[in-house]
Amino acid sequence: MAKILVVDDERNIRKVLSNYLRKEGFTVETARNYEEAVDKAAAVNFDLVLTDMRLPGQSGLDLLKWLKRKRPSLPVLVITAYGSIDNAVEVMKNGASNYLTKPVDMDEMLVIIQHTLLKEQVLPEAAAGEEGEHFGIIGGSPAINEVIATIKVVAVSRANILISGESGTGKELVAGAIHSASQRRDAPFIALNCAAVPVDLIENELFGHEKGAFTGAVSRESGKVEMAASGTLFLDEIGEMSVAMQIKLLRFIQERVFYRISGREQLASDCRIIAATNRDLEVEVKKGTFREDLFYRLNVIQIKVPALRERKEDIPALAHYFLNKYAGENKKFIRGIEQAALEALTVYEWPGNIRELENIIERAVVLSRLDIIVLDDLPRKMQNNYSESRGENKSAEDQHLAGLIGMPLAELERIAVLKALKAENWNQTRAAARLCITRRQLRTKMEKYQLL
Ligand SMILES: Nc1ncnc2c1ncn2[C@@H]1O[C@H](COP(=O)(O)OP(=O)(O)OP(=O)(O)O)[C@@H](O)[C@H]1O
Ligand SMILES: [Mg+2]
Repeated sequence: MAKILVVDDERNIRKVLSNYLRKEGFTVETARNYEEAVDKAAAVNFDLVLTDMRLPGQSGLDLLKWLKRKRPSLPVLVITAYGSIDNAVEVMKNGASNYLTKPVDMDEMLVIIQHTLLKEQVLPEAAAGEEGEHFGIIGGSPAINEVIATIKVVAVSRANILISGESGTGKELVAGAIHSASQRRDAPFIALNCAAVPVDLIENELFGHEKGAFTGAVSRESGKVEMAASGTLFLDEIGEMSVAMQIKLLRFIQERVFYRISGREQLASDCRIIAATNRDLEVEVKKGTFREDLFYRLNVIQIKVPALRERKEDIPALAHYFLNKYAGENKKFIRGIEQAALEALTVYEWPGNIRELENIIERAVVLSRLDIIVLDDLPRKMQNNYSESRGENKSAEDQHLAGLIGMPLAELERIAVLKALKAENWNQTRAAARLCITRRQLRTKMEKYQLL
Protein backbone atom coordinates (compact mmCIF):
# COMPACT_ATOMS: atom_id res chain seq x y z
CA MET A 1 0.00 0.00 0.00
CA ALA A 2 1.08 3.56 -0.69
CA LYS A 3 3.18 5.42 1.89
CA ILE A 4 2.28 9.00 2.69
CA LEU A 5 4.17 11.65 4.66
CA VAL A 6 1.88 14.19 6.37
CA VAL A 7 3.54 17.46 7.38
CA ASP A 8 1.78 19.91 9.71
CA ASP A 9 2.80 21.79 12.84
CA GLU A 10 -0.56 21.29 14.57
CA ARG A 11 -0.77 18.04 16.45
CA ASN A 12 -4.53 17.76 16.02
CA ILE A 13 -4.44 18.17 12.28
CA ARG A 14 -1.66 15.60 11.95
CA LYS A 15 -3.79 13.22 13.96
CA VAL A 16 -7.03 13.79 12.03
CA LEU A 17 -5.35 13.50 8.64
CA SER A 18 -3.29 10.45 9.46
CA ASN A 19 -6.16 8.61 11.15
CA TYR A 20 -8.35 9.21 8.14
CA LEU A 21 -5.69 8.08 5.67
CA ARG A 22 -4.82 4.99 7.72
CA LYS A 23 -8.48 4.05 7.74
CA GLU A 24 -8.38 4.26 3.95
CA GLY A 25 -5.51 1.77 3.94
CA PHE A 26 -2.48 4.02 3.53
CA THR A 27 0.71 3.79 5.52
CA VAL A 28 1.23 7.19 7.13
CA GLU A 29 4.15 8.94 8.81
CA THR A 30 4.07 12.48 10.11
CA ALA A 31 6.47 15.38 10.51
CA ARG A 32 6.06 18.63 12.47
CA ASN A 33 8.19 20.96 10.42
CA TYR A 34 10.53 21.40 7.46
CA GLU A 35 13.56 19.81 9.13
CA GLU A 36 11.72 16.70 10.27
CA ALA A 37 10.07 16.33 6.87
CA VAL A 38 13.39 16.61 5.04
CA ASP A 39 14.98 14.01 7.34
CA LYS A 40 12.12 11.55 6.84
CA ALA A 41 11.87 12.09 3.10
CA ALA A 42 15.61 11.45 2.79
CA ALA A 43 15.34 8.20 4.75
CA VAL A 44 12.04 6.69 3.58
CA ASN A 45 10.73 6.04 0.10
CA PHE A 46 7.36 7.80 0.26
CA ASP A 47 4.80 7.66 -2.55
CA LEU A 48 3.33 11.04 -1.73
CA VAL A 49 3.85 14.03 0.58
CA LEU A 50 0.96 16.08 1.94
CA THR A 51 2.16 19.31 3.54
CA ASP A 52 0.64 22.41 5.00
CA MET A 53 1.79 25.62 3.33
CA ARG A 54 2.29 27.40 6.64
CA LEU A 55 4.91 25.82 8.84
CA PRO A 56 7.00 27.44 11.57
CA GLY A 57 10.38 28.45 10.14
CA GLN A 58 10.79 27.25 6.59
CA SER A 59 7.45 26.94 4.81
CA GLY A 60 5.62 24.24 2.92
CA LEU A 61 6.74 26.00 -0.26
CA ASP A 62 10.39 25.62 0.81
CA LEU A 63 9.74 21.95 1.51
CA LEU A 64 8.12 21.57 -1.93
CA LYS A 65 11.16 23.16 -3.58
CA TRP A 66 13.54 20.91 -1.66
CA LEU A 67 11.55 17.80 -2.57
CA LYS A 68 11.34 18.76 -6.24
CA ARG A 69 15.13 19.13 -6.29
CA LYS A 70 15.94 15.94 -4.36
CA ARG A 71 13.00 13.71 -5.30
CA PRO A 72 11.58 15.17 -8.51
CA SER A 73 9.23 12.25 -9.15
CA LEU A 74 7.69 12.25 -5.65
CA PRO A 75 4.23 13.88 -5.86
CA VAL A 76 3.59 16.68 -3.35
CA LEU A 77 0.19 18.05 -2.34
CA VAL A 78 0.09 21.39 -0.53
CA ILE A 79 -2.66 22.61 1.80
CA THR A 80 -3.16 26.35 1.40
CA ALA A 81 -5.19 28.80 3.48
CA TYR A 82 -8.79 29.52 2.56
CA GLY A 83 -9.11 32.09 -0.23
CA SER A 84 -5.38 32.41 -0.91
CA ILE A 85 -5.47 31.52 -4.57
CA ASP A 86 -2.08 33.24 -5.05
CA ASN A 87 -0.46 30.64 -2.83
CA ALA A 88 -2.15 27.88 -4.81
CA VAL A 89 -0.85 29.30 -8.08
CA GLU A 90 2.64 29.60 -6.63
CA VAL A 91 2.79 26.01 -5.37
CA MET A 92 1.46 24.68 -8.68
CA LYS A 93 4.14 26.64 -10.56
CA ASN A 94 6.74 25.09 -8.27
CA GLY A 95 5.76 21.58 -9.20
CA ALA A 96 3.09 20.60 -6.68
CA SER A 97 0.88 17.83 -8.05
CA ASN A 98 -2.15 19.60 -6.66
CA TYR A 99 -3.32 21.76 -3.77
CA LEU A 100 -6.09 21.61 -1.18
CA THR A 101 -7.69 24.59 0.52
CA LYS A 102 -8.54 24.85 4.20
CA PRO A 103 -10.78 23.68 5.68
CA VAL A 104 -9.79 20.40 4.06
CA ASP A 105 -12.71 18.39 2.76
CA MET A 106 -11.70 14.80 3.52
CA ASP A 107 -13.51 13.27 0.53
CA GLU A 108 -11.88 15.74 -1.80
CA MET A 109 -8.48 15.07 -0.25
CA LEU A 110 -8.90 11.33 -0.72
CA VAL A 111 -9.94 11.76 -4.34
CA ILE A 112 -7.00 14.00 -5.09
CA ILE A 113 -4.59 11.59 -3.42
CA GLN A 114 -6.00 8.60 -5.31
CA HIS A 115 -5.99 10.51 -8.57
CA THR A 116 -2.38 11.57 -8.04
CA LEU A 117 -1.27 8.03 -7.24
CA LEU A 118 -3.17 6.71 -10.24
CA LYS A 119 -1.35 9.18 -12.47
CA GLU A 120 1.99 8.20 -10.92
CA GLN A 121 0.98 4.57 -11.43
CA VAL A 122 1.31 3.71 -7.76
CA LEU A 123 -2.30 2.48 -7.81
CA PRO A 124 -3.25 -0.01 -10.52
CA GLU A 125 -5.79 1.43 -12.93
CA ALA A 126 -6.82 -2.01 -14.12
CA ALA A 127 -8.73 -2.52 -10.89
CA ALA A 128 -11.11 0.25 -11.77
CA GLY A 129 -10.97 0.12 -15.53
CA GLU A 130 -11.29 -3.44 -16.67
CA GLU A 131 -14.35 -4.62 -14.89
CA GLY A 132 -17.53 -3.13 -13.57
CA GLU A 133 -19.51 -0.16 -14.73
CA HIS A 134 -18.35 1.56 -17.92
CA PHE A 135 -21.14 4.17 -18.03
CA GLY A 136 -21.87 3.52 -21.69
CA ILE A 137 -18.31 4.42 -22.63
CA ILE A 138 -17.31 1.97 -25.33
CA GLY A 139 -13.71 0.86 -25.79
CA GLY A 140 -11.12 -1.16 -23.90
CA SER A 141 -7.90 0.63 -24.87
CA PRO A 142 -5.51 1.47 -22.03
CA ALA A 143 -6.21 5.16 -22.69
CA ILE A 144 -9.97 4.80 -22.22
CA ASN A 145 -9.54 2.46 -19.23
CA GLU A 146 -7.54 5.19 -17.54
CA VAL A 147 -10.37 7.65 -18.17
CA ILE A 148 -12.91 5.21 -16.70
CA ALA A 149 -10.70 4.56 -13.66
CA THR A 150 -10.42 8.29 -13.07
CA ILE A 151 -14.19 8.77 -13.37
CA LYS A 152 -14.69 6.23 -10.58
CA VAL A 153 -12.07 7.83 -8.38
CA VAL A 154 -13.35 11.39 -8.75
CA ALA A 155 -17.07 10.66 -8.64
CA VAL A 156 -17.23 10.33 -4.85
CA SER A 157 -16.15 13.90 -4.14
CA ARG A 158 -17.31 17.22 -5.41
CA ALA A 159 -13.87 18.39 -6.51
CA ASN A 160 -14.04 20.57 -9.60
CA ILE A 161 -13.01 18.84 -12.77
CA LEU A 162 -11.66 20.06 -16.07
CA ILE A 163 -12.16 17.76 -19.05
CA SER A 164 -9.98 18.48 -22.04
CA GLY A 165 -9.87 16.86 -25.44
CA GLU A 166 -10.41 17.45 -29.12
CA SER A 167 -13.85 18.02 -30.51
CA GLY A 168 -15.99 14.88 -30.60
CA THR A 169 -13.83 12.79 -28.24
CA GLY A 170 -16.61 12.27 -25.69
CA LYS A 171 -16.08 15.05 -23.16
CA GLU A 172 -19.78 15.48 -22.48
CA LEU A 173 -20.19 11.72 -22.19
CA VAL A 174 -17.44 11.66 -19.55
CA ALA A 175 -19.05 14.55 -17.65
CA GLY A 176 -22.36 12.69 -17.63
CA ALA A 177 -20.60 9.53 -16.46
CA ILE A 178 -19.07 11.36 -13.48
CA HIS A 179 -22.52 12.61 -12.55
CA SER A 180 -24.09 9.15 -12.81
CA ALA A 181 -21.30 7.59 -10.80
CA SER A 182 -21.69 10.17 -8.03
CA GLN A 183 -24.14 10.43 -5.18
CA ARG A 184 -25.66 13.36 -7.05
CA ARG A 185 -27.02 11.03 -9.71
CA ASP A 186 -30.65 11.64 -8.71
CA ALA A 187 -30.21 15.42 -8.78
CA PRO A 188 -30.12 17.28 -12.12
CA PHE A 189 -27.21 17.35 -14.56
CA ILE A 190 -27.39 20.81 -16.12
CA ALA A 191 -25.27 21.73 -19.12
CA LEU A 192 -24.39 25.18 -20.36
CA ASN A 193 -22.50 25.58 -23.62
CA CYS A 194 -20.55 28.80 -23.16
CA ALA A 195 -19.87 29.02 -26.90
CA ALA A 196 -23.54 28.87 -27.84
CA VAL A 197 -24.74 31.77 -25.68
CA PRO A 198 -24.07 35.41 -26.69
CA VAL A 199 -21.59 37.07 -24.32
CA ASP A 200 -24.11 39.46 -22.79
CA LEU A 201 -26.62 36.72 -22.05
CA ILE A 202 -24.35 34.31 -20.29
CA GLU A 203 -24.70 35.88 -16.85
CA ASN A 204 -28.45 35.49 -17.21
CA GLU A 205 -28.04 31.87 -18.24
CA LEU A 206 -25.82 31.15 -15.26
CA PHE A 207 -27.40 33.16 -12.47
CA GLY A 208 -30.91 34.01 -13.71
CA HIS A 209 -32.75 37.31 -13.16
CA GLU A 210 -35.47 39.01 -11.16
CA LYS A 211 -38.65 40.30 -12.72
CA GLY A 212 -37.97 43.61 -14.48
CA ALA A 213 -34.19 43.17 -14.51
CA PHE A 214 -34.15 44.16 -18.17
CA THR A 215 -36.63 44.74 -20.98
CA GLY A 216 -38.41 41.50 -21.54
CA ALA A 217 -37.73 40.14 -18.08
CA VAL A 218 -41.41 39.72 -17.32
CA SER A 219 -40.90 37.27 -14.53
CA ARG A 220 -38.22 35.94 -12.22
CA GLU A 221 -36.18 33.17 -13.78
CA SER A 222 -33.64 30.80 -12.30
CA GLY A 223 -30.24 30.35 -13.86
CA LYS A 224 -28.37 27.09 -14.37
CA VAL A 225 -26.42 27.46 -11.14
CA GLU A 226 -29.69 27.43 -9.25
CA MET A 227 -31.18 24.58 -11.28
CA ALA A 228 -28.10 22.47 -10.69
CA ALA A 229 -28.14 22.90 -6.91
CA SER A 230 -27.18 19.58 -5.31
CA GLY A 231 -26.53 18.25 -8.82
CA THR A 232 -23.86 18.87 -11.43
CA LEU A 233 -23.27 21.96 -13.54
CA PHE A 234 -21.49 21.18 -16.79
CA LEU A 235 -19.81 24.21 -18.33
CA ASP A 236 -18.97 23.20 -21.87
CA GLU A 237 -16.47 25.18 -23.96
CA ILE A 238 -15.36 27.12 -20.90
CA GLY A 239 -12.50 28.62 -22.96
CA GLU A 240 -15.06 30.77 -24.79
CA MET A 241 -16.22 32.58 -21.65
CA SER A 242 -15.42 36.29 -21.51
CA VAL A 243 -12.92 37.48 -18.92
CA ALA A 244 -15.62 39.59 -17.21
CA MET A 245 -17.78 36.51 -16.79
CA GLN A 246 -14.81 34.44 -15.65
CA ILE A 247 -14.45 36.81 -12.68
CA LYS A 248 -18.09 36.29 -11.69
CA LEU A 249 -17.80 32.55 -12.05
CA LEU A 250 -14.64 32.51 -9.93
CA ARG A 251 -16.43 34.43 -7.19
CA PHE A 252 -19.25 31.90 -7.24
CA ILE A 253 -16.85 28.96 -7.11
CA GLN A 254 -15.01 30.45 -4.12
CA GLU A 255 -17.97 31.68 -2.13
CA ARG A 256 -20.66 29.29 -3.38
CA VAL A 257 -23.14 32.18 -3.33
CA PHE A 258 -24.56 34.35 -6.11
CA TYR A 259 -27.20 36.94 -6.98
CA ARG A 260 -29.75 36.77 -9.75
CA ILE A 261 -29.45 39.77 -12.10
CA SER A 262 -30.98 42.73 -10.20
CA GLY A 263 -31.49 40.42 -7.25
CA ARG A 264 -30.81 41.53 -3.71
CA GLU A 265 -31.08 38.22 -2.07
CA GLN A 266 -27.88 36.25 -1.73
CA LEU A 267 -28.50 32.69 -2.88
CA ALA A 268 -26.44 29.57 -2.39
CA SER A 269 -25.87 26.56 -4.61
CA ASP A 270 -23.66 23.61 -3.88
CA CYS A 271 -23.60 22.26 -7.41
CA ARG A 272 -20.54 20.39 -8.52
CA ILE A 273 -18.76 22.03 -11.42
CA ILE A 274 -17.36 20.12 -14.35
CA ALA A 275 -15.90 22.23 -17.14
CA ALA A 276 -14.82 21.13 -20.58
CA THR A 277 -12.68 22.64 -23.27
CA ASN A 278 -11.14 21.69 -26.57
CA ARG A 279 -8.58 24.46 -26.20
CA ASP A 280 -5.32 24.25 -24.34
CA LEU A 281 -6.26 26.46 -21.40
CA GLU A 282 -2.67 26.70 -20.21
CA VAL A 283 -1.88 28.43 -23.49
CA GLU A 284 -4.91 30.69 -23.05
CA VAL A 285 -3.68 31.58 -19.56
CA LYS A 286 -0.27 32.54 -20.97
CA LYS A 287 -1.96 34.64 -23.66
CA GLY A 288 -4.02 36.36 -20.98
CA THR A 289 -7.42 35.31 -22.38
CA PHE A 290 -8.15 32.93 -19.52
CA ARG A 291 -7.72 33.87 -15.88
CA GLU A 292 -5.02 31.92 -14.13
CA ASP A 293 -6.89 31.83 -10.80
CA LEU A 294 -10.02 30.41 -12.43
CA PHE A 295 -7.91 27.88 -14.32
CA TYR A 296 -6.47 26.54 -11.08
CA ARG A 297 -9.88 26.50 -9.43
CA LEU A 298 -11.41 24.43 -12.23
CA ASN A 299 -8.39 22.27 -12.88
CA VAL A 300 -8.43 20.52 -9.48
CA ILE A 301 -8.51 17.30 -11.45
CA GLN A 302 -7.92 17.21 -15.17
CA ILE A 303 -9.20 14.42 -17.36
CA LYS A 304 -7.70 14.31 -20.81
CA VAL A 305 -9.93 12.43 -23.23
CA PRO A 306 -7.64 10.97 -25.90
CA ALA A 307 -8.23 11.52 -29.62
CA LEU A 308 -9.60 8.52 -31.51
CA ARG A 309 -6.44 8.19 -33.60
CA GLU A 310 -4.53 7.61 -30.34
CA ARG A 311 -6.71 4.60 -29.52
CA LYS A 312 -7.40 2.99 -32.86
CA GLU A 313 -7.92 -0.37 -31.18
CA ASP A 314 -11.29 0.99 -30.01
CA ILE A 315 -12.54 1.61 -33.56
CA PRO A 316 -14.06 -1.85 -34.24
CA ALA A 317 -16.00 -1.89 -30.95
CA LEU A 318 -17.25 1.66 -31.47
CA ALA A 319 -18.18 0.99 -35.10
CA HIS A 320 -20.22 -2.09 -34.14
CA TYR A 321 -21.85 -0.24 -31.28
CA PHE A 322 -23.02 2.55 -33.60
CA LEU A 323 -23.99 0.00 -36.24
CA ASN A 324 -26.37 -1.71 -33.81
CA LYS A 325 -27.71 1.61 -32.60
CA TYR A 326 -28.55 2.94 -36.06
CA ALA A 327 -29.62 -0.37 -37.57
CA GLY A 328 -32.16 -0.54 -34.75
CA GLU A 329 -33.32 3.04 -35.24
CA ASN A 330 -33.68 2.54 -38.98
CA LYS A 331 -35.23 -0.91 -38.62
CA LYS A 332 -32.61 -2.50 -40.84
CA PHE A 333 -31.04 -5.88 -40.40
CA ILE A 334 -27.29 -5.53 -40.80
CA ARG A 335 -25.15 -8.22 -39.31
CA GLY A 336 -21.72 -6.65 -39.52
CA ILE A 337 -18.99 -4.74 -41.29
CA GLU A 338 -16.97 -6.18 -44.15
CA GLN A 339 -13.25 -6.60 -43.42
CA ALA A 340 -12.15 -4.05 -46.04
CA ALA A 341 -14.58 -1.48 -44.68
CA LEU A 342 -13.32 -2.10 -41.15
CA GLU A 343 -9.75 -1.65 -42.35
CA ALA A 344 -10.72 1.58 -44.06
CA LEU A 345 -12.19 2.82 -40.77
CA THR A 346 -8.99 1.89 -38.98
CA VAL A 347 -6.48 3.56 -41.31
CA TYR A 348 -8.42 6.85 -41.32
CA GLU A 349 -7.14 9.54 -38.93
CA TRP A 350 -10.52 10.79 -37.57
CA PRO A 351 -10.08 14.54 -37.17
CA GLY A 352 -13.68 14.71 -35.91
CA ASN A 353 -13.12 11.79 -33.53
CA ILE A 354 -16.01 9.67 -32.28
CA ARG A 355 -18.70 12.06 -33.39
CA GLU A 356 -17.39 11.73 -36.95
CA LEU A 357 -17.27 7.92 -36.66
CA GLU A 358 -20.84 7.92 -35.40
CA ASN A 359 -22.01 10.08 -38.32
CA ILE A 360 -20.22 7.92 -40.87
CA ILE A 361 -21.71 4.70 -39.51
CA GLU A 362 -25.18 6.22 -39.40
CA ARG A 363 -24.82 7.28 -43.02
CA ALA A 364 -23.53 3.83 -44.02
CA VAL A 365 -26.48 2.14 -42.30
CA VAL A 366 -28.93 4.36 -44.17
CA LEU A 367 -27.19 3.81 -47.52
CA SER A 368 -26.60 0.09 -47.14
CA ARG A 369 -28.47 -2.26 -49.48
CA LEU A 370 -26.92 -5.45 -48.15
CA ASP A 371 -26.92 -7.15 -44.80
CA ILE A 372 -23.34 -6.02 -44.26
CA ILE A 373 -21.61 -2.63 -44.43
CA VAL A 374 -19.19 -2.58 -47.37
CA LEU A 375 -16.45 -0.20 -48.44
CA ASP A 376 -18.83 1.41 -50.92
CA ASP A 377 -21.08 2.56 -48.08
CA LEU A 378 -18.30 4.73 -46.68
CA PRO A 379 -17.58 8.28 -47.87
CA ARG A 380 -15.48 8.57 -51.02
CA LYS A 381 -12.60 10.26 -49.16
CA MET A 382 -12.28 7.24 -46.85
CA GLN A 383 -12.38 4.80 -49.75
CA ASN A 384 -9.60 6.74 -51.49
CA ASN A 385 -7.60 7.00 -48.32
CA TYR A 386 -7.92 3.24 -47.89
CA SER A 387 -6.85 2.34 -51.42
CA GLU A 388 -3.87 4.69 -51.09
CA SER A 389 -2.79 2.96 -47.91
CA ARG A 390 -3.13 -0.42 -49.61
CA GLY A 391 -1.34 0.85 -52.71
CA GLU A 392 1.74 1.41 -50.61
CA ASN A 393 1.58 -2.07 -49.14
CA LYS A 394 1.09 -3.61 -52.53
CA SER A 395 4.06 -1.86 -54.00
CA ALA A 396 6.21 -3.17 -51.14
CA GLU A 397 4.95 -6.65 -51.95
CA ASP A 398 5.56 -6.05 -55.67
CA GLN A 399 9.13 -5.02 -54.92
CA HIS A 400 9.62 -8.14 -52.90
CA LEU A 401 8.28 -10.30 -55.71
CA ALA A 402 10.35 -8.43 -58.29
CA GLY A 403 13.47 -9.34 -56.30
CA LEU A 404 12.56 -13.02 -56.55
CA ILE A 405 12.09 -13.02 -60.29
CA GLY A 406 15.13 -14.38 -62.03
CA MET A 407 16.28 -16.38 -59.02
CA PRO A 408 17.05 -20.06 -59.60
CA LEU A 409 14.10 -22.19 -58.52
CA ALA A 410 16.31 -24.25 -56.20
CA GLU A 411 17.41 -21.07 -54.44
CA LEU A 412 13.75 -20.07 -53.93
CA GLU A 413 13.05 -23.49 -52.47
CA ARG A 414 16.06 -23.26 -50.14
CA ILE A 415 14.83 -19.86 -48.84
CA ALA A 416 11.31 -21.19 -48.34
CA VAL A 417 12.53 -24.21 -46.36
CA LEU A 418 14.90 -22.12 -44.26
CA LYS A 419 12.19 -19.54 -43.49
CA ALA A 420 9.69 -22.18 -42.47
CA LEU A 421 12.22 -23.85 -40.16
CA LYS A 422 13.20 -20.57 -38.55
CA ALA A 423 9.57 -19.54 -38.12
CA GLU A 424 8.89 -22.84 -36.31
CA ASN A 425 12.02 -22.71 -34.22
CA TRP A 426 13.46 -25.65 -36.17
CA ASN A 427 10.57 -27.92 -35.26
CA GLN A 428 10.49 -30.14 -38.36
CA THR A 429 6.92 -31.41 -38.01
CA ARG A 430 5.50 -27.90 -37.83
CA ALA A 431 7.78 -26.52 -40.55
CA ALA A 432 6.68 -29.34 -42.86
CA ALA A 433 3.05 -28.52 -42.13
CA ARG A 434 3.70 -24.89 -43.07
CA LEU A 435 5.19 -25.96 -46.38
CA CYS A 436 2.37 -28.46 -46.99
CA ILE A 437 4.78 -31.39 -47.36
CA THR A 438 5.49 -34.45 -45.21
CA ARG A 439 8.21 -34.48 -42.61
CA ARG A 440 10.14 -37.03 -44.72
CA GLN A 441 10.02 -34.72 -47.74
CA LEU A 442 11.26 -31.90 -45.54
CA ARG A 443 14.22 -34.03 -44.31
CA THR A 444 15.16 -34.78 -47.90
CA LYS A 445 15.14 -31.09 -48.80
CA MET A 446 17.13 -30.20 -45.69
CA GLU A 447 19.77 -32.69 -46.73
CA LYS A 448 19.79 -31.33 -50.25
CA TYR A 449 20.30 -27.76 -49.06
CA GLN A 450 22.66 -28.74 -46.25
CA LEU A 451 20.37 -27.45 -43.53
CA LEU A 452 20.80 -30.40 -41.17
N1 LIG B 1 -16.36 6.00 -25.87
C1 LIG B 1 -17.57 6.25 -26.38
N2 LIG B 1 -18.49 5.29 -26.44
C2 LIG B 1 -19.69 5.53 -26.99
N3 LIG B 1 -20.08 6.70 -27.49
C3 LIG B 1 -19.21 7.71 -27.47
C4 LIG B 1 -17.92 7.54 -26.90
N4 LIG B 1 -17.27 8.71 -26.99
C5 LIG B 1 -18.11 9.57 -27.58
N5 LIG B 1 -19.29 8.98 -27.87
C6 LIG B 1 -20.42 9.60 -28.57
O1 LIG B 1 -19.88 10.49 -29.53
C7 LIG B 1 -20.61 11.69 -29.60
C8 LIG B 1 -19.71 12.85 -29.26
O2 LIG B 1 -19.38 12.82 -27.89
P1 LIG B 1 -19.44 14.14 -27.00
O3 LIG B 1 -20.55 15.03 -27.37
O4 LIG B 1 -19.36 13.69 -25.57
O5 LIG B 1 -18.05 14.78 -27.44
P2 LIG B 1 -17.40 16.18 -27.03
O6 LIG B 1 -15.98 15.88 -26.70
O7 LIG B 1 -18.23 16.83 -26.01
O8 LIG B 1 -17.43 16.96 -28.40
P3 LIG B 1 -17.43 18.57 -28.69
O9 LIG B 1 -16.07 19.08 -28.31
O10 LIG B 1 -17.65 18.62 -30.14
O11 LIG B 1 -18.53 19.13 -27.87
C9 LIG B 1 -21.76 11.53 -28.63
O12 LIG B 1 -22.89 11.06 -29.34
C10 LIG B 1 -21.26 10.47 -27.66
O13 LIG B 1 -22.30 9.77 -27.06
MG1 LIG C 1 -19.31 18.60 -26.16
